[in-house]
Amino acid sequence: MTAITYKSALAAVALTVSATLVYAHGDVTPQAVDTAGLPETGDEWLSENPYRADAVGDEVWARAVEIGASGYNQNCARCHGLEAISGGLAPDVRFLEAEEYGDEWYIERFRFGYTQNGTTKMPEFGELLGQDAAWAIRTYIETRPDDASMEEVAEELKALRDQIAGYGADPAAADADALKARLSEIAANIETVSGAPVADSAAFRAANLIDGTQDAYVRAAEALTIGLSAAH
Ligand code: HEC
Repeated sequence: MTAITYKSALAAVALTVSATLVYAHGDVTPQAVDTAGLPETGDEWLSENPYRADAVGDEVWARAVEIGASGYNQNCARCHGLEAISGGLAPDVRFLEAEEYGDEWYIERFRFGYTQNGTTKMPEFGELLGQDAAWAIRTYIETRPDDASMEEVAEELKALRDQIAGYGADPAAADADALKARLSEIAANIETVSGAPVADSAAFRAANLIDGTQDAYVRAAEALTIGLSAAH
């Protein structure tokens, strides 16, 4: 059962990767990002991320991360790497400081891309994707968990993943509150590379998914599997 869950999640990751690669060989038209549910940022370009939790609250922030994940995967991952972990083709964007200094540099590149000796190394996205998508992607990037702190808890998360996958098949013995509490504790110790206060780690996602229902255990186990495989 566990092996099957694990495989299907890996297959989902593999699909994303191959879709990304196919796209890399095709044209490089930016893929529009649906930003419904985010406050509009307006026409004037900002120099600081407006979607941080201290400005918009946890719910909008979480929505920005989710929308940003999809926008990132469609437009940026083929060069900057899945989960923003660079494979060496382009800089590792997780390291940009989650404050105005890092934001200014981020938004400059996002809007105008980068051209060297007449060759476009990075396309421009500003006009095509717009500002709301820009900052949603920024929010996703800055909340990536640090590999090293994920590594420290990987063993425990694997064990929890197996246990939670089991509850996905039969939730009778599950203690949702205890699981949520432990996952939240682990999540609180996982840092970001950018200095952003909360890392959108697999532990964080799983803790938020668990609500006592059987379906939620299945999805939480998947979130853990994907997070654990991306970390390597
Ligand atoms: C075709 C490949 C490609 C794509 C697609 C791409 N980038 Fe880039 N990006 C690059 C390269 C190459 C650089 C390095 C440019 C330089 O030397 O400053 C870069 C630089 C950056 C930087 C500056 C990083 C730093 O540390 O200096 C940011 C921020 C950035 N990209 C964000 C994005 C975002 C966000 C997306 C998607 C919306 C994206 N990029 C899509 C290739 C790409």
